[in-house]
Amino acid sequence: MDGPKLRCNERAITVLVVLLMPLALPTVLGWGKDGHYAICKISLEYLSEDALFAVKQLLPDSAEGDLAAVCSWPDEVRHNRHYRWSSALHYVDTPDFKCNYQYCNCLGLFIGDCHDSSGHKHRCVTGAIYNYTMQLKSARGDASSELKYNLTEALMFLSHFVGDVHQPLHVGFTGDLGGNSITVRWYRRKTNLHHVWDDMIIESALKTFYGSDLSIMIQAIQSNITDIWSNDISFWEHCAHNYTACPDRYASESISLACKFAYKNATPGSTLEDEYFLSRLPIVEKRLAQGGVRLAAILNRIFTSNKASIAQA
Ligand code: ADE
Ligand code: ZN
Ligand code: ZN
Repeated sequence: MDGPKLRCNERAITVLVVLLMPLALPTVLGWGKDGHYAICKISLEYLSEDALFAVKQLLPDSAEGDLAAVCSWPDEVRHNRHYRWSSALHYVDTPDFKCNYQYCNCLGLFIGDCHDSSGHKHRCVTGAIYNYTMQLKSARGDASSELKYNLTEALMFLSHFVGDVHQPLHVGFTGDLGGNSITVRWYRRKTNLHHVWDDMIIESALKTFYGSDLSIMIQAIQSNITDIWSNDISFWEHCAHNYTACPDRYASESISLACKFAYKNATPGSTLEDEYFLSRLPIVEKRLAQGGVRLAAILNRIFTSNKASIAQA
């Protein structure tokens, strides 16, 4: 007898929750969906045959063989109580106005930037990239690691976080939550600086220059990679000490770009329009290109089998 009334109340609560959701959401989104999609699509162009095969084996059925289709998955699940632990893994912040980043001082005491808000070490985007790279690497041909780790999730997290660490404000200042608490206007719309860099610059570029077609924007970035940045690719891909991934380098670049371009002339209450948009768009496009090329380089180092050394062994 209480059924319909209860359902009615439940519906009212659901409507309220949906309406209030944008206010209550924690502020940790990566690049928007378009940014992550672009980075993963670009990376597919640079994957070796071995790596592409391994990636396809690990993808969930829902991806239908396309890595880019699941690159925003970590943003979709972070509200889910089973994945709340992953929220701090999308970014790393530095003390206010400090334009360089340090994982740890590595000489004993852990004094560094890679920790969550409760001070747990290694819980940040660079720590997560090291961790998921290690999981995927250790699982190559090792059945016990395949059982220990969820490698499908490891691949989706790694692909997403390599994207995130290339968004300059995902390596921002602690005090303003990477620009999330800096209210600005983007043309006539009220928003925050972080959201401008996650979404609005890409959204405005799509409308202004690419006929609202993401695949045309991706093609334009790919042409820039081959025409303008071709000499830089091997430098982008390279990691010192033969490391498989070097997220500390990507994070250092990001905080430097955040200081030089994202925070600059974007004080609370300012209105950002053509001048800001047109001078920052090239930075965003280059970061999407670097994210894609580096994701492929990391996956290639994880998955490309060294046939010569196997033949020698
Ligand atoms: N929350 C706190 N800092 C953040 C950042 N840099 N990026 C995204 N979300 C955050
Ligand atoms: Zn974000
Ligand atoms: Zn993210």
